[in-house]
Amino acid sequence: MADTKLMEKIVALCKRRGFIFQSSEIYGGLNGAWDYGPLGVELKRNIKDYWWHSMTRMRDDIVGMDGAILMNRAVWKATGHEATFSDPLIDCKTCKGRFRADQIEDTPCPNKPSKTVKTCGGELTEPRSFNLMFKTYVGPVEDDSNVTYLRPETAQAMFVQFKNILEVARKKVPFGIAQVGKAFRNEINPRNFTFRSREFEQMEVEFFIKPDTGREWLEKWLEARLKWYEEIGLPRAKIHVYEVPEADRAFYSKGTYDLEYEFPFGVQELEGIAYRTDYDLTQHMKASGKPLEYFDDETKQKYIPHVVEPSAGVDRTLLAVLCEAFAEEQVTDEESGKTETRTVLRFAPRIAPVKAGIFPLVKNKPELVAKAQEVLALLRPEMAVFYDESGAIGRRYRRQDEAGTPFGVTIDFETIEGMKEGPFAGQKNTVTLRHRDSMQQERIKIEDLLPKLKAAIR
Ligand code: GAP
Repeated sequence: MADTKLMEKIVALCKRRGFIFQSSEIYGGLNGAWDYGPLGVELKRNIKDYWWHSMTRMRDDIVGMDGAILMNRAVWKATGHEATFSDPLIDCKTCKGRFRADQIEDTPCPNKPSKTVKTCGGELTEPRSFNLMFKTYVGPVEDDSNVTYLRPETAQAMFVQFKNILEVARKKVPFGIAQVGKAFRNEINPRNFTFRSREFEQMEVEFFIKPDTGREWLEKWLEARLKWYEEIGLPRAKIHVYEVPEADRAFYSKGTYDLEYEFPFGVQELEGIAYRTDYDLTQHMKASGKPLEYFDDETKQKYIPHVVEPSAGVDRTLLAVLCEAFAEEQVTDEESGKTETRTVLRFAPRIAPVKAGIFPLVKNKPELVAKAQEVLALLRPEMAVFYDESGAIGRRYRRQDEAGTPFGVTIDFETIEGMKEGPFAGQKNTVTLRHRDSMQQERIKIEDLLPKLKAAIR
């Protein structure tokens, strides 16, 4: 069952702490568009960077590209997007709402929110096709010859540039092209916060393979992608692998896995891994008249490569990571000893927006502040840090818990004067390192801080 309360808390935290805001909020917003604030943009960047690192830098068989959002209209004709990239739309004559016909069973009625569009008794029209691509004009003349679309997926730039990249990258099949970028779909009903948006980002690989190796690569990609989600903090047990039945697959696909996550609003798709056969390259070859075959030096055979495509959504991954990280727990305040509720985001350190909070114990002691600034200067070139000298230390820890910062470094009197007891007795230049999840604190030499934190956030 959907956990609406939990989702409301996550949405409220996102706004309160500056992860995600409604786009154009002061004008009443724009449905299906979102802005990422200071913490959100760091989290998003870290997810994309880790994907890029895993898909390109750590592999010899994938290279990257960054294609234009606007492409020649002929691309979208060749792929069939112009004719068929659509959802079934129905109108309600009673409330004047427009809905996706295949979702009326779980779409709330705008007039009677306790009922769904299917059960509210409104008068519905027959479904008709609604193309999801945003149409635009290239140049000043708004006529049919200048029409194109904002890309609805990043994939096509990689197919269209296949030959160029093959030549410059000096790769042999099997090899892939990776891309991260914006995509746009005029969704009929954007919903579930950022989950279904009209503007979003994708992280896609087109992996070109020999024709008879499709199933084998589909399985390899499934494993690689499950491992990747674990590495960013989504446990294997909460990712559902759904093998899409033939009747529900695109006609050219010979196998598709959807990776789904247990969101508070239900188990929903994070990523599709599709064996697309040679459909896209064949379509572009036919439509452009340009050869897009691959010549295999070893077998002396020419063929159109087949493709396995792992296609993930950045915004959905970020939302899943937020949902997974969110926790509220009863704790004893580290200073007052009182029991209170702590809100914490337990992000995997490698994607956390801020890696360490740096806190002089009090702000009116120049020696403490100067030492804290030294620690800041030491860590800053290597990781995102946040310096905070205002308020009680317990409050400062809580603020960073809510931002998902995995470490807190506190500079106190013993840092300056030397430790009174313990393993570092008599030694200066030690600090307290606080761990977000356990709230445990340890004493550590400043000189050991950087290697320790760097190892923890890799
Ligand atoms: N090139 C293949 C392709 O685009 P898709 O299943 O339509 O496949 C891939 O999209 C991924 O893009 C989805 O699994 C999802 O993560 C993300 N995505 C698609 N539509 C989205 C939307 N309206 N809002 C947010 N993310 C979306």
